[in-house]
Amino acid sequence: MLRRPMPSLVPDRLAEHDSDPIVACEGVAKRYGDRLAVDHIDLAVPAGLCFGLLGPNGAGKTTMLRMIYGATPPSAGIVRVFGLDVTQHTRRVRMRLGVTLQENALVEVLSAVENLRIFARYHRLPRVTSERRIEELLDFLELRSHATLPVRALSGGFQRRVAIAVSLIHRPELLILDEPTTGLDPAVRLALWERIRELRSAGTTVLLTTHYMDEAQRLCDRLAILSAGRVVADGSPAALIRQHLAAQALELTLPAGEDARVLAEIRDVRTLRMGRRLVLFADDATALLETLRERGRTGDPSAVVVRPANLEDVFLALTGTALEGDA
Ligand SMILES: Nc1ncnc2c1ncn2[C@@H]1O[C@H](COP(=O)(O)OP(=O)(O)OP(=O)(O)O)[C@@H](O)[C@H]1O
Ligand SMILES: [Mg+2]
Repeated sequence: MLRRPMPSLVPDRLAEHDSDPIVACEGVAKRYGDRLAVDHIDLAVPAGLCFGLLGPNGAGKTTMLRMIYGATPPSAGIVRVFGLDVTQHTRRVRMRLGVTLQENALVEVLSAVENLRIFARYHRLPRVTSERRIEELLDFLELRSHATLPVRALSGGFQRRVAIAVSLIHRPELLILDEPTTGLDPAVRLALWERIRELRSAGTTVLLTTHYMDEAQRLCDRLAILSAGRVVADGSPAALIRQHLAAQALELTLPAGEDARVLAEIRDVRTLRMGRRLVLFADDATALLETLRERGRTGDPSAVVVRPANLEDVFLALTGTALEGDA
């Protein structure tokens, strides 16, 4: 993708008080009938960071984002963006943020350039400014070769780029991206990560959701993991791994019924069952492996793996497979 110098993407206004969070949610809940989609969440997104919301399908990520950009009011609690109550100041807040939805919201019969012009008018940009920014964004997201084709004729990756370009037309201080890279090929994902990093370096706060743990680990400064409408953990990727598991993982392949025998007399080890694999977390997995070898408790010796613990482990431990341990 893009190899040209970054255009001027510094937001028109930067947060006046960097220490104030850009997004502050207090006791925010959203009820749909009997279902509590968001269950009294407190969340603060600091200025200038890339902040990720993770969670299984239905955890409440999109609902949180929709309340943050004012598409739906909370059933309880308060959402402040730029210090403003979103319910009361929806338009003022919207003028300062950009949103790319889970489903691209573009006019499909129109081209990228025409879509960009529509959003420029919505944001009341003077014509000269909007034409200059459209040029910049076509370069920034490498859209030039596809700029005049109807959006519906573009591949999913190009449509995603158009949607992101549209959300940047007014140089928002806060960019909200709901699953920005879902369904994209690896090269386009890498290129979009680079764009997101550049925007953050230029001062834009980014709030995104993702199902890709590698994306979250590489892109996000901070994360909140949601499960059933609640925040079950938050912090930097490294801190989450440290807090909830340990630095290293030892994977063994053995039947589930053998866990108790393998773990007998092993202390301070957290474990995660993933089908036929038992994963043990320790700061020194090699030493742990030696101990288990001496006791003949490694299961299939050819299937033993020692690796760094990762965010996927934390995610599974907190939202999916049961986490056990005596630590
Ligand atoms: N407009 C709506 N009406 C009724 N229920 C809704 C509505 N929007 C969301 N929900 C419900 O709220 C819960 C949270 O949905 P949400 O879309 O926020 O999840 P999500 O974390 O974004 O999931 P995914 O990863 O699948 O995108 C789900 O149970 C969903 O069915
Ligand atoms: Mg969603």
